[in-house]
Amino acid sequence: MPTFERREGVLWAERVALDAIVAEVGSPVFVYSASMLRDRARAVKAAFDPIGAEVRYAVKANANLSVLRLMLEEGCGMDVVSGGELHRARAAGCPGGLICFAGVSKSEAELRSALGVETGEEPVGLINIESPSELRLLDRVARGAGVRASALLRVNPGVDARTHRYTTTGITDSKFGIEPEETVAIFERASEYPGVALLGLHAHIGSPIREPARYAAAAGRLGEIAARVRSKGVDVGVLNLGGGFAHGYGDDPVEPLEAYAHAVRQAIAEELERGTRILIEPGRVIAAGAGVLIVRAVHVKHNTHRSFALCDAGMNALARPALYEAEHRVEPVRTREGALAPIDIAGPLCESADFLARERTLPSIESGDLLAVFEAGAYGMSMASNYNDHPKPAEVLVDGDRWAVIRDRQTFEDMTRHDREPEWRS
Ligand code: LLP
Repeated sequence: MPTFERREGVLWAERVALDAIVAEVGSPVFVYSASMLRDRARAVKAAFDPIGAEVRYAVKANANLSVLRLMLEEGCGMDVVSGGELHRARAAGCPGGLICFAGVSKSEAELRSALGVETGEEPVGLINIESPSELRLLDRVARGAGVRASALLRVNPGVDARTHRYTTTGITDSKFGIEPEETVAIFERASEYPGVALLGLHAHIGSPIREPARYAAAAGRLGEIAARVRSKGVDVGVLNLGGGFAHGYGDDPVEPLEAYAHAVRQAIAEELERGTRILIEPGRVIAAGAGVLIVRAVHVKHNTHRSFALCDAGMNALARPALYEAEHRVEPVRTREGALAPIDIAGPLCESADFLARERTLPSIESGDLLAVFEAGAYGMSMASNYNDHPKPAEVLVDGDRWAVIRDRQTFEDMTRHDREPEWRS
């Protein structure tokens, strides 16, 4: 059964009509399919099983606790990039050992929390270190707490992911990771950091990576660096290859996951032979297609040259079109008869960038119509903001013929709660 399907003119998620959900919880609302989330997690695991990769779901793609619990049930660990995501992963029940902690500027408080210093929580399995300064800080924090942190060095492998410039992280001038020469040098000096067990290497070159060969090239670079480090007499037992597998937005064709796994297998054959532990950090490829954002076209306006559907959410709920000019498919929830006409799907914010879709050809939309924005399950809610003080949307999970609210819509009170009357100090 297709996940999002039109029946008698209405869009359904699994076996629940989307307009029935909106009738109860209002709009805007993100609706996720539990079956599809499970299927996608299984597809990733199956594709990478031949190389024995352990999956660490990238929490940043969709961080709702119910989604995280589904991922745990499917046997995924978690890749987190902040104290907040770490808190979420633990709150969802993820054992510390299954958590990888990345993040380009981790603070002392975040590292202490990762090691469970004050709380006595199970330390995270691996910390991906992004700079020599972070390594020194982690060493100090761990020694101070009388523990040894397990860590990888995140390498900037100098491989262009050939994706949007805002989501490219593996080129030499990006802020991410440590350069290869310095990485090798740090391993040679590993004994200077007795609080840190440097177990291996990490890379993540960007997202989405449309060419499996690019992903594999970065993996290959890790293999080369691992071999160089070993030649200095230091062991490297773990390679974390990162995430970034492409999802096919709209009709965009993408390579199957197996193609990435196959390319990796060839690129790091020696590592696999020697039994190096392999991790991957997929987010988008699991969650993107499993979610839709439902908005209401509050007003429809026809100017001389353009028509606009002015909706109750835009870049505040789904920032991707404004930020990356990403193209998400949009359809009316209830089929409209009539001629196709060009229309821009715009949000409510006072920003010209506030679009969900530009120049789409859709059957004539009328004020009050509900619209479904597809492929919004990843980097939708997790990037939503309160700009112009619009409350963040509700989130709903559908599972077969059942559905449940998994995050309440924010209230105005939620948004003002943390503002305070000044209590002047001097
Ligand atoms: N691991 C690390 C270290 C990452 O930085 C990311 C994503 C991932 C894994 C997961 O990548 P994925 O498998 O989801 O492609 N907001 C952008 C995407 C930014 C991704 C940032 N890092 C978007 O909406 O396209």
